[in-house]
Parts: sequence; C-alpha cells; structure tokens
Amino acid sequence: MGTMGCENILLMMFMLSDMLSVVSATEIKIEAFFNKTAKLPCNFKNPQNSSPEELVIFWQGHKDDVLYEFYRGKENLMYVHSNYINRTKLNPNTWILQLQNVQIMDQGMYTCFVQHYGSKGPVVIHQFSFQLSVLAPFSKPEIIQLDNKTAEIGDVLNFSCSANQGYPKPQKMYWKIETKNSTKYLGDMYVFQDNTNQLYNVTTILSLLINDTSPWINITCLIQTQESMEPLASETMHLKTQPKENPDSSFLIPGLVIAGAISAVLCIFILIGRNACCATREAPNVKAENTEHPKERDEALEPMNHGSCEKTEDR
Ligand SMILES: *[C@@H]1O[C@H](CO)[C@@H](O)[C@H](O)[C@H]1NC(C)=O
Ligand SMILES: *[C@@H]1O[C@H](CO)[C@@H](O)[C@H](O)[C@H]1NC(C)=O
Ligand SMILES: *[C@@H]1O[C@H](CO)[C@@H](O)[C@H](O)[C@H]1NC(C)=O
Ligand SMILES: *[C@@H]1O[C@H](CO)[C@@H](O)[C@H](O)[C@H]1NC(C)=O
Ligand SMILES: *[C@@H]1O[C@H](CO)[C@@H](O)[C@H](O)[C@H]1NC(C)=O
Repeated sequence: MGTMGCENILLMMFMLSDMLSVVSATEIKIEAFFNKTAKLPCNFKNPQNSSPEELVIFWQGHKDDVLYEFYRGKENLMYVHSNYINRTKLNPNTWILQLQNVQIMDQGMYTCFVQHYGSKGPVVIHQFSFQLSVLAPFSKPEIIQLDNKTAEIGDVLNFSCSANQGYPKPQKMYWKIETKNSTKYLGDMYVFQDNTNQLYNVTTILSLLINDTSPWINITCLIQTQESMEPLASETMHLKTQPKENPDSSFLIPGLVIAGAISAVLCIFILIGRNACCATREAPNVKAENTEHPKERDEALEPMNHGSCEKTEDR
C-alpha cells in the first residue's frame, strides 16, 4: 500500500516553490490538440538503473494538483486530483505520461518529479518542468452573403465570414477581393468564446460596393491563426456583376447613405447600350475595418460614349 509520508508532501511543496522561481528562462513547450492525447514527458533516463520498486514518480500541474503517481512499482491514486482520474496512462519504459481528452483548462505548467526510495527514505533525484499549450484547428471559414441580392452595379452587398471552435484566438481575419486588381482588407474580427470548452468562434463582416470596374468579383475570406502558419482560407465566392435592371432606379445608391461620404459626388454618366450607370468616386468601395484603404475607381475603365459629367448633391 503506497502512501506518501508527511515529509514527502513537504518536500513536494518545497520543490514546487523552488521550481516556480526558475521556470521562465528555458521553458520547454509541449503542444497537444484539443480533445486528443497529450504526451507529458519526464525526461528521466534512470541513470542508476533503479528498479521500479525504488522509485516514486509523479506529475504535478498548476495549483500543485497531482495528475499521476507511480509509487514503488504501482499506480497510487490517493493524491491524484479528480480532474485527472481515468485520464492518464504511463508508459513505464519511456516514463511518458499520456493525458487524454485534453481541454483548454489543462494548459499550464507541469512538473515531473522522481524520487529514489532508499534506506534513508525518499530523495528527489530528478525533476522536469514544461509548459503545456493546447491547439484547436478552426473550421474552414465560411462566407455567407447576408442580403438576398444579385451584384448590380451601385449595390452595397454585405457578407459575413465565420470559423468556429478554434484555439488560440486568431491574429486577424481579412478579405481578399479580386477584380481586375486584387486587394486585401483587414476585417473587424468579432470573437466569441464558448463557455463550455473555452474555444473561440470568430466572425467578420464585409460591406462591398459593387462598381463597374470588373464584370466579376471573387471574394475569399482568410484567417491568420498564428504568425508562422499559413492562413486558413474559405472557398472563393464568385460574383458576376450586372448592370442595374431599371435605369431610373440607378440613381438611388443605398450604399451612399451608410458610406457616409456624401459630399459632392462626382457622377460619371456612362452609356452602355440603353442603360445609364452611375459610378461614384468618393464613396469607399468597401466598408470594413481596414488599414489599407480601398483604391479609387479604376481609371482604366473605358466608358463607350463618354458623356457629360455632372455634379450631384446627395439624394
Ligand atoms: C470534443 O469531444 C467532445 C466529447 O467527446 C465532443 O462532443 C466535441 O464535439 C469535441 N469537440 C471538438 C472541437 O472536437
Ligand atoms: C431570395 O429571393 C428570392 C426571390 O425574391 C426568394 O425566392 C428566396 O427565397 C430568397 N432567399 C432568401 C434566402 O431570402
Ligand atoms: C449592409 O450593412 C450595413 C451596415 O454595415 C447596413 O446598414 C445595410 O443595411 C446592409 N445592407 C443590406 C442590404 O442589408
Ligand atoms: C475569379 O473567378 C473567375 C471565375 O468566376 C475565374 O475565371 C477567374 O480566374 C478568377 N480570378 C482570379 C483573379 O482569381
Ligand atoms: C490595376 O492593375 C493594372 C495593371 O495590372 C494597372 O495598370 C492599374 O493602374 C491598376 N488599377 C488600380 C486601380 O490599381
């Protein structure tokens, strides 16, 4: 029957406070995927070839909770914290402890202690500390068009892009808008944390003014999770731009109202067949929290029959 004497517990506490003062410099990092198994090392080589009966090995987590104790040849559950019951498995050859069903709350500092149990009682012969961090891959980002509209020139279309159940928090989300020229816009990232498992769901919104610079627009949403990693991309959404159906309504540009840039709007009157199209230069193409501002209307556009250019006040 393996029990830890009082002196052992005192020693553990001493070791832990000792350990806390030396961690920062050479921190060893162990990563594990959410809901999967973490491999918690001890890095114990057993240099004196001690038999298992002479060894006491245990792992402690944050708040000194004991994950697992191997007491002189047997597993000892007496001091194991309830969070870790039925979640651990020791490989006695490598002294690697498997921690199953890893959760975000398991993140933190861990230490493995090895004591040699000789005639004078237990003596700590080895200790090894490391930081456990947990990763959860976000679902593939998904773009949803928020309004039920075709991409008519002059319209403002809204899109959302979301990805779910990831960890840690992504660095940023952005949109890639491909017309004749491609542009990237940083999105305003809304982050929601799931209370049950601490994972993140993220969303960003794009308001896009459809202008007449390109017959098609390709929209992709990307998430930069961590600096070193490739961004996670959505499927590309393909929009075909269309001229306004009703020429009379083409002068009502709903986007201008929200765009807020309603001063003197330069209106270029373009005749394509019998449709009159109105393009604005002052209103931003895109309303998204951005660092790079959208380019002005592409000058390369060649209106056939370049008509008069009239100034209009807001309507
Ligand atoms: C994690 O595991 C639980 C229970 O096994 C399951 O319900 C949940 O969907 C899993 N979550 C993820 C993000 O894999
Ligand atoms: C979009 O509009 C069409 C026609 O007006 C309608 O049949 C369809 O149900 C709408 N879809 C959504 C998602 O609102
Ligand atoms: C698009 O979003 C803006 C807010 O950014 C909103 O004012 C506008 O009504 C939305 N447009 C449509 C067609 O839903
Ligand atoms: C945009 O999508 C169209 C298909 O809709 C494709 O032909 C074109 O190559 C794409 N353009 C870019 C720059 O990806
Ligand atoms: C788009 O790209 C072309 C060349 O690829 C360039 O000549 C033009 O100025 C660009 N237009 C804008 C608005 O950046």
